[in-house]
Amino acid sequence: MNAKQLAGEKAVEFVEDGMTLGLGTGSTVYWTVQRLGERVREGLRVRCIPTSRRTEEQARGLGIPLITFADASQLDLTIDGADEIGPGLALIKGGGGALLREKLVAAASRRLIIVADSSKRVATLGQFPLPVEVVPFAWEVTTGRVAATGCRPTLRQDGDAPYVTDNGNYILDCACGSIKDPASLERDLKLITGVVECGLFVGLADLAIIAGGEKVLTIEKS
Ligand code: A5P
Repeated sequence: MNAKQLAGEKAVEFVEDGMTLGLGTGSTVYWTVQRLGERVREGLRVRCIPTSRRTEEQARGLGIPLITFADASQLDLTIDGADEIGPGLALIKGGGGALLREKLVAAASRRLIIVADSSKRVATLGQFPLPVEVVPFAWEVTTGRVAATGCRPTLRQDGDAPYVTDNGNYILDCACGSIKDPASLERDLKLITGVVECGLFVGLADLAIIAGGEKVLTIEKS
């Protein structure tokens, strides 16, 4: 079994009958959703909010009951992936383009579990380009303001056209170098008009399940 599958499936052990769940996005959570589908077929009762159309389709296909925030304003648990996991379980997310819904769902959850392979664990965030979701109108101006925070933004492409998120926005992938103070960079970016959300998740994750080889390591928020 590969590391992503190991970590993804392990997280389902934290799911209890009757829970409302947030379902993340990506190739690690894919395995969480597959395993959850098996548990649902065996009789587990859960209600889930997916963080992307991709995850929604997968969950629907497996018969996992889906709800929206009209049905539940708070979730018991969200399981999601990450692009980087730094000290204090600060994260970079959004490599898959779902950062806005992922942060909305994480912020509405009592508990956030991150699943990843060991390559995602870093001493300092910032090797992975930081995704920043921006409104398409005036994106060129917004890009200049994002660059003024000290990073190098590149508009994410989908073939010859800009990549468009599930929310109809663009993504700037920002080369930031070492991010010494993720909370402060997150605040600076979010103060820029035109920025909808950034992929820094600070103080949201409670537990990381990290697999490497056949071993699984869990790290609690300190
Ligand atoms: C999706 O937008 C991201 O935040 C993913 O959670 C992240 O990219 C992890 O993806 P993998 O599990 O595919 O590495």
